Amino acid sequence: MRLDVVTIFPEYLEPLNVSLVGKARTRGQLDVRVHDLREWTHDRHHTVDDTPYGGGPGMVMKPEPWGEALDAVIGSATEQDEAGPALIVPTPSGRPFTQALAVELSQRPWLIFAPARYEGIDRRVMDEYGERLDVYEVSIGDYVLAGGEAAVLVITEAVARLLPGVLGNADSHRDDSFAPGAMASLLEGPVYTKPPEWRGRAIPDVLVSGHHGKIARWRRDEAFRRTASHRPDLIERCDPSSLDKGDRAI
Ligand code: ADE
Repeated sequence: MRLDVVTIFPEYLEPLNVSLVGKARTRGQLDVRVHDLREWTHDRHHTVDDTPYGGGPGMVMKPEPWGEALDAVIGSATEQDEAGPALIVPTPSGRPFTQALAVELSQRPWLIFAPARYEGIDRRVMDEYGERLDVYEVSIGDYVLAGGEAAVLVITEAVARLLPGVLGNADSHRDDSFAPGAMASLLEGPVYTKPPEWRGRAIPDVLVSGHHGKIARWRRDEAFRRTASHRPDLIERCDPSSLDKGDRAI
């Protein structure tokens, strides 16, 4: 998968060299290219923002540098990139970033991220590229960040771990909270490892019982309890047929 990020803070994307995403890059599973938006400005001060039409606080990112930058990145397509990119614009006014959207994006061969600072990017940029590409305006949560770069890191990590061969154990995301399947719409319950006792705290006996049916039932009950406590909305929204007798007993 190819990922391009156009930003005024290229150094903010350094974490893409580390851990899971960093390893995926070294292994050639991810081709990440970070670009400085200011390279596509032509004035002495490398201006990327201006005052908003209609008044109001803050500044708006100018369309010209974005247009030139995106044309250059899109124009750098090689034969390998024949499927064409999708443009991801992180913004608190976007559609919610969910596991389902992470799965959808992980199936695209090329993503271009356009993280904004200030009050956002001039609307005409999204309108212009929306005529040529799939444009996803995405919010990572109901809070306002100082800019979209942190959202790029979040989205990239959620997407990269879904790519074939990136996670050591392909089953690791099967039981993820929000993963499709039997545990759909339930959060993951608690997990334990050795030692069997730590600071006087023992692990639940069932986990060393060797009884797979009982372990599965316990995991499901714990997931159900945790979901009811932290995210009751997920249970209210779920398809009742996805709940079993054990769930209903809780
Ligand atoms: N930029 C600022 N806040 C954001 C958010 N919540 N999600 C995505 N991009 C953002």
